[in-house]
Amino acid sequence: MSEQTMRAVTIEEFGGPEVMRTRRVARPEPLPTEVLVRVHAAGINPVDWKTRAGHGMAGLQSFPLIPGWDVSGVVEEVGFGVTTLAPGDEVYAMPWFPRPAGAYAEFVTAPSRQFARKPASLPHTGAAALPLAALTAWHALVDAAGVAAGQRVLVHAAAGGVGHLAVQFAKHFGAEVIATAREPRHAWLKELGADETIDYTQRRFEDATGGVDAVIDLLGTLDETDVRSVSVTRPGGIVVSVPGGVSPGLATAAGRAGVRTSPLLVEPDAAALTAIAELVDAGAVQVQIERTFALEEAAEAHRLGETNRTRGKLVFEVAK
Ligand SMILES: NC(=O)c1ccc[n+]([C@@H]2O[C@H](COP(=O)([O-])OP(=O)(O)OC[C@H]3O[C@@H](n4cnc5c(N)ncnc54)[C@H](OP(=O)(O)O)[C@@H]3O)[C@@H](O)[C@H]2O)c1
Repeated sequence: MSEQTMRAVTIEEFGGPEVMRTRRVARPEPLPTEVLVRVHAAGINPVDWKTRAGHGMAGLQSFPLIPGWDVSGVVEEVGFGVTTLAPGDEVYAMPWFPRPAGAYAEFVTAPSRQFARKPASLPHTGAAALPLAALTAWHALVDAAGVAAGQRVLVHAAAGGVGHLAVQFAKHFGAEVIATAREPRHAWLKELGADETIDYTQRRFEDATGGVDAVIDLLGTLDETDVRSVSVTRPGGIVVSVPGGVSPGLATAAGRAGVRTSPLLVEPDAAALTAIAELVDAGAVQVQIERTFALEEAAEAHRLGETNRTRGKLVFEVAK
């Protein structure tokens, strides 16, 4: 195996899961202030398959494209000027987002300060499952909503990658947590900290709860979840609409009800990843992995993810 090449999933055109091929490509080299990281595991997120299909962040990519943003691995080499990391350090990150990061590969390069120390208590597969989903939940709860102890927080799609972490962070911040998910997920979500669970297939969430301070809306315009969320939110409360920003319908309904709204696009944030790693290592937050895949199984991984039924996360095990 050449030192100059690596295995990676590549895409030459947007399309279905079958456009992803695993092949050998040139290994990236770190520029000054960057690190080269040997990827042990790479997390899989809905934005990966949305982008692969020509949506999501497709407009910011060029071909051949190596998909993916979430990595956990070991620093292999540091570029000139890097002072905080050294070869051998175990790190995790969501580098470059929304520009391409090329995470579905054996190596990535990115600015050193976009990486944080990996949670010591987790294997690389667990750490790689965290960055994009955990940072989204963190940015929504901490920065957009400013959730405080005693507030009521409603998390839609609580059983998914972002949702199950949002439930745990909200609980850690002292909030009362209401979670929407199918009934078979309820016992698990209660273990993670949900105080109320609503089976959205049996009743409308607005008939089951109310007086909410912050809605972490991970469904957006699907079933008009964003607009319907306004009716359960108290005046002055906030609906953070994560998938597609603030729709015109949400803006109108929220304006009438005196409810605040916020769009959100997750950003690389090593400081938040460090805080998240501390919570994980303290046992306050767990990450749920539904299944791991080899890079060669990328199409199967995307097909499973696209069913929109994932409990927790899907992850590539890149190095064993
Ligand atoms: N703006 C950003 O920066 C940003 C960042 C991250 C994610 N996102 C977006 O946020 C969304 C969620 O991401 P994710 O990674 O958490 O997705 P995910 O893990 O694929 O979500 C799957 C979960 O959604 C649940 N679900 C599906 N339909 C539902 C419904 N009608 N009501 C309640 N739960 C439902 C499913 O639970 P059941 O099986 O119980 O139905 C499943 O557990 C995606 O659209 C993603 O693209 C945006």
